[in-house]
Amino acid sequence: MNIQERKVGVIGCGFVGSSSAFALMQSGLFSEIVLNDVDRERAEGEALDISHGLPFAKPMKIYAGDYDDLMDCSIIVITAGAGQKPGETRLDLVKKNVGIFKSIIPEIAKRKYEGILLIVANPVDILTYAAVKLSGFPENRVFGSGTVLDTARLKYLLGEHLSIDNRSVHAFIIGEHGDSEIAAWSSANVSGIPLNDFCELRGHLEHDASMKRIAEDVKNSAYEIIAKKKATYYGIAMSVRRICEAIIRDEKSILPVSSMQHGEYGISDVSLSVPAIVGRQGVERVVSIDLSEEEKEALQASADTLKKVIEDAFS
Ligand code: 2OP
Repeated sequence: MNIQERKVGVIGCGFVGSSSAFALMQSGLFSEIVLNDVDRERAEGEALDISHGLPFAKPMKIYAGDYDDLMDCSIIVITAGAGQKPGETRLDLVKKNVGIFKSIIPEIAKRKYEGILLIVANPVDILTYAAVKLSGFPENRVFGSGTVLDTARLKYLLGEHLSIDNRSVHAFIIGEHGDSEIAAWSSANVSGIPLNDFCELRGHLEHDASMKRIAEDVKNSAYEIIAKKKATYYGIAMSVRRICEAIIRDEKSILPVSSMQHGEYGISDVSLSVPAIVGRQGVERVVSIDLSEEEKEALQASADTLKKVIEDAFS
């Protein structure tokens, strides 16, 4: 089927799927959004609600559809699955959500879909791996939102800490989107100025304590939000919008999406986040950033954590 560049699909219309659709509607990137959910009425309700904002945005169509309606989308965003409850980790969701993926991905694969699958449901690294294996699609067009959100949280917190526009902060969270993630401090900078130098410029001298606190705050962001309001969705919705923008506009932006690894960082047979070039073909390639020995070890440990979960889930 011919792909329609300006058509996007969202599978799963819970908080994350519907917020993502709302963000995508406002982005002006698409002329059609198809919403799909096992609860058809939920998808129809979200489509109506979001449509009613269209007079304040750009003309487009938003409607509920089935798998056949999704097949000419340039991107299908998959948010379907249970979300974390207070006290749960992302990895606690693995059994339930791999099961859900076993019902969704074969439906897409058997229709020979040729667009991009953007995996957002958690645990995103495990589900990206599952989607690659279950679909058999080329790996460049099956990848996950990964640590794009964690990286945004890091930039936001550093921007606040330094009283600086967070878009001038260049820093990545890499590894699992979850408890074993790593802040790649050794390459962090503010517009080319090494982070520690910039901190001093702003009168902050307690580098180690600040970095530790900020990395912990990033890692615990979702726990904190879930404890307070039961779910997270606006941050991830903006991350989905940003990734779709990089794809549709063929920006070749460097984003820490979760993709299958083939030895670039000494890691393979697992999907996790490292900076990658993202454009119309999906993940063009991952790029190597300099990591300290400690960061390399932590990335390896993060990969090992995910591999154990994969072994349990797929054995
Ligand atoms: C988040 O980090 C729960 O993965 C979701 O907000």
